[in-house]
Amino acid sequence: MSKGSVCVSFFQPTIDLEKVNAMAKNEVTGLSMHLVPRTTLAQKMDALSSMANIAGYRAVIEASNNYGRFFTGQVTAAGKIPPAKILIIGAGVAGLAAIGAATSLGAQVYAFDVRPEVAEQIESMGAEFVFLDFDESQTDGSESGGYAAPSSPEFREKQLEKFTQLAPNIDIVITTALIPGREAPKLWLESMVLSMRSGSVVIDLAAERGGNCELTVPDQKIVSNNGVTIIGYTDFPSRMAAQSSELYSTNIRHMISDLTPEKD
Ligand code: NAI
Repeated sequence: MSKGSVCVSFFQPTIDLEKVNAMAKNEVTGLSMHLVPRTTLAQKMDALSSMANIAGYRAVIEASNNYGRFFTGQVTAAGKIPPAKILIIGAGVAGLAAIGAATSLGAQVYAFDVRPEVAEQIESMGAEFVFLDFDESQTDGSESGGYAAPSSPEFREKQLEKFTQLAPNIDIVITTALIPGREAPKLWLESMVLSMRSGSVVIDLAAERGGNCELTVPDQKIVSNNGVTIIGYTDFPSRMAAQSSELYSTNIRHMISDLTPEKD
């Protein structure tokens, strides 16, 4: 790029050092879409949210396609079908979008997050919040700006214990748990996958940062020895490309108009 130009894109300035150094060398100004502040004023240019929303919705569609069974429960002359049980780990933007899509298809949805304030949001969307039996003063996993802080080892142990209990009865797990600037926490262990029924599905939206599931292979769909499909695609928004482009370009347009109030 020529000297003095501006590059607006997805990059993490503290991680993608090669890109940042190349920009510095050419005197190009970089504006990171990852670092748009998550304030009400900046919401219109928050591409992390607009893309996470799409990813969450698409994760449910992908799960349904791979599960190949009804989400909704039915009683018909040909037999009784129980609703699919879906567990959503991490109820941020993507997780809440997934809850909305899964409940509207009739599934029985459970969700968990380390930030206790999301319990109400989870329940208002028709899912059940998975409570942990843990000293309340230690359950607040929130940090500033609505993001999560890394959990204490004791909390993590309780969380894994709960997931181990749930695993045999869950048909679909959608994981979205992330902590800014870190590798994704491992929350769905191999032992949990092995205790799920054959035909179950795990969708790991944290695959790009190493994955929440121990068996996730980024960018791939694999099937475990006991018949559980584990999807680690990292391009969920691109799987609804026209709409992603529409929303992303609107985010960028808002950024450009905010940066140039004089239209210069
Ligand atoms: P994210 O993608 O960084 O994380 C996803 C979710 O994973 C978060 O809800 C986090 O609490 C959860 N998580 C982390 N570790 C976990 C663990 N061990 N177990 C279970 N869950 C775990 O976050 P995202 O979706 O980008 O945003 C998080 C929050 O930020 C939103 O829910 C909202 O409160 C806030 N926000 C505010 C905006 C605004 O304009 N005011 C815009 C967008 C988000």
